[in-house]
Amino acid sequence: MPNTSRIAIIGAGNVGATAAYALMLHGTVAEIVLIDRSAEHAAAEATDVADANAISQPVRIWAGDYSDVRDAAILVITAGATPKDGEPRTSVAGRSAEIVRDCVRRAMDAGFDGVFVVASNPADAMTQVAQAESGLPAARVIGTGTLLDSNRFRKRIADRLGIAPGAVAAQVLGEHGDSEVMAYSTVRIGGMDLDAYLDGRQFDRAEVAHEVMRAGYTIGHGKGFTSYGVASAIARICEAVYRDERVVLPVSTLLSGQYGIDGIYLSLPCLIGAEGILRVLTPELTRDEISALLASADVLRRTLEQTNGEL
Ligand code: LAC
Repeated sequence: MPNTSRIAIIGAGNVGATAAYALMLHGTVAEIVLIDRSAEHAAAEATDVADANAISQPVRIWAGDYSDVRDAAILVITAGATPKDGEPRTSVAGRSAEIVRDCVRRAMDAGFDGVFVVASNPADAMTQVAQAESGLPAARVIGTGTLLDSNRFRKRIADRLGIAPGAVAAQVLGEHGDSEVMAYSTVRIGGMDLDAYLDGRQFDRAEVAHEVMRAGYTIGHGKGFTSYGVASAIARICEAVYRDERVVLPVSTLLSGQYGIDGIYLSLPCLIGAEGILRVLTPELTRDEISALLASADVLRRTLEQTNGEL
């Protein structure tokens, strides 16, 4: 695996460009290369992001091509089809799979040997497609999965309680999509579970869960796409890998028997370091949460079928 300070991003659309911007602001790496089927667009985004260089961290950012990915430690894929307003992410599974396969094939042909971070939607199936196409160990092909949804969950719980999102630990598990599981049993505030923290106060769990599940649709309806939330999740995963942080984040990974689920990508809390996913964690969930997780795995199996992928 290359020990370089370069991150390559394939797809310089709203998500890819914003991820580059987030990585630059954080000063995570020394080099960011943007690759897009439109070289002109990639160059424009790279130049625009780099225009902040004089007052930001000293990052070199440029529009490149696949020859630049060989020396990248991490390759982010954001390229894919975009669902129309109100359509589920799964509606673009077939078209996105073709695009993701093509990107991965070209990256592997170019000699890429690092860690993939896949954000293209539908995120779990696209990560699974990328892993199969790359032939890399599953640990080195990570999907952004429900890190974004978990951040949305934490923010909305925090808003209801009038506290900081950073004070709330909470996990959304399963699909990054309609079947995702708001695992209320994982909510902790200063070590207290939600009921203990509420101490009898009202909290509409179903309403919060619905808001979190619909957040992507709501934002998409208002501005045509989502970008900052998912780009922040991409940057966070890249940092965890790049700095060998050994932090635990809910991301999409290939399950191998956890909760009885095997051979399918979905999100569980994962220990992340330089080699990718070091361990998949299995928190104690309620019976209902486990049933919902199994149902989510079924949805993902059906989504994968639409990609002509192997199960
Ligand atoms: C979202 C997109 C990235 O939920 O799926 O914002």
